[in-house]
Amino acid sequence: MSTMSWRILKVVALVLVLGGFYGLAVYKHAEREAIRQAPVVLTEACAEKLSRYGLAAGPVYRSPYMLQRTGLAPAMAGYSEEDVRAIQRGCNIIDDTQGRLASDKASERWNAPRFIRGTHASCNQCHQGVGDKQDADGNRLKGSLSLGASWVMADMYDRFTGLLLPFELRQMQCYINSSNGYKPNIADDLIRDVTAYTRFLSAALGLQIGTSYEEQGVDEIPASFTGKQGDDYIRGEALYKEKCQHCHGPQGHGVEVAGRLIGPAVAGPNAWNMQSRNYFYYVATILPGFICRNMPLGAENTLSNQDCRDIAYFISNLPRPAGDKQGPLVALQQQALMRIMPPLLRWSEAVMERTAQPAPQAPVAAR
Ligand code: HEC
Ligand code: HEC
Repeated sequence: MSTMSWRILKVVALVLVLGGFYGLAVYKHAEREAIRQAPVVLTEACAEKLSRYGLAAGPVYRSPYMLQRTGLAPAMAGYSEEDVRAIQRGCNIIDDTQGRLASDKASERWNAPRFIRGTHASCNQCHQGVGDKQDADGNRLKGSLSLGASWVMADMYDRFTGLLLPFELRQMQCYINSSNGYKPNIADDLIRDVTAYTRFLSAALGLQIGTSYEEQGVDEIPASFTGKQGDDYIRGEALYKEKCQHCHGPQGHGVEVAGRLIGPAVAGPNAWNMQSRNYFYYVATILPGFICRNMPLGAENTLSNQDCRDIAYFISNLPRPAGDKQGPLVALQQQALMRIMPPLLRWSEAVMERTAQPAPQAPVAAR
């Protein structure tokens, strides 16, 4: 072939490749736009919450929650049809991050599971009540990891990193560590929709920007809130077996029955990692606080501060994924522990059962 036709061929190939990329980008943009325009199928919890808060498109928004609580519902900025859909999608993402309830994960949840390594984590497991936990009378609860209260403190100084972290970055931390995954792009629709939803929550609840509310974060339990007996692994293990294991499984690996999550993993491959604020060795006050207020599910607020510290200490000693700061050696070690410990324990329990003799009966006369 002549050099001339080689050159033409090269140019054609280049144009084809670049054209291919361009075509792909156009296709992906169209796909995203179609998702943005599509009507949203709400999860049950979101349908209930958003209708209770009177979400609808219109020039002004008045909160039924505020009207009911204070007798006043001042006119606030309204929402466009597009805003409403973003808020609805954001709520769905919090309630069902893994898309277990979605008929099409890819479009209904913006592929959220691609940012999470395990199959359990969903924001609502920790940010309960779809990020807005209330008691039966509609009172917001202290230390309930409220996302609305968190939004009004956007750009808050973060006591752990020493940085001013905008709300988007704080979401990202939860993908990376509390959900043991990867960082979504700050401009991702996933982040934007959750921000839209949490901003709506703050409007519906009548929260004021820059005000610190007690429902933000966790009602933490420092060691000084106990009898200072120290955190006890053995007690923690016994309590875990008695009160938590039937839902969260042996070794904390979670319980799943026919695709339904009875309890998410609190340790093992599907759990939060060693850089999550839930991890006792990183922040010792958060997990005990969460447990005391929110667990055991259905019997909340029944454990003592000491119980919660002990259980949190025990859970945090079970093998779990390394975080982004521990490095590859620790990551490898944790993986090895997670894969080896549970089968080893099952095996040793089976051996013990097989070799167990019935307890000898003491002769009555000898007593
Ligand atoms: C395993 C529990 C857990 C999961 C799952 C989880 N989070 Fe969190 N989240 C926490 C904890 C703990 C904090 C830290 C609270 C603190 O620092 O006081 C937090 C903090 C946050 C904050 C900042 C709150 C504030 O007031 O500063 C945001 C925003 C957030 N999470 C969003 C999310 C989103 C979005 C998801 C789902 C992708 C998610 N979280 C999943 C436990 C969790
Ligand atoms: C009846 C079942 C049940 C019992 C008992 C129970 N949990 Fe849970 N737990 C759940 C469910 C379900 C969730 C997810 C939260 C939700 O959907 O509201 C959860 C969430 C959690 C979380 C946060 C999510 C995560 O992945 O870490 C922790 C931590 C936790 N439980 C610890 C405990 C501890 C400790 C006990 C025992 C004191 C306990 N749970 C007892 C069902 C249970």
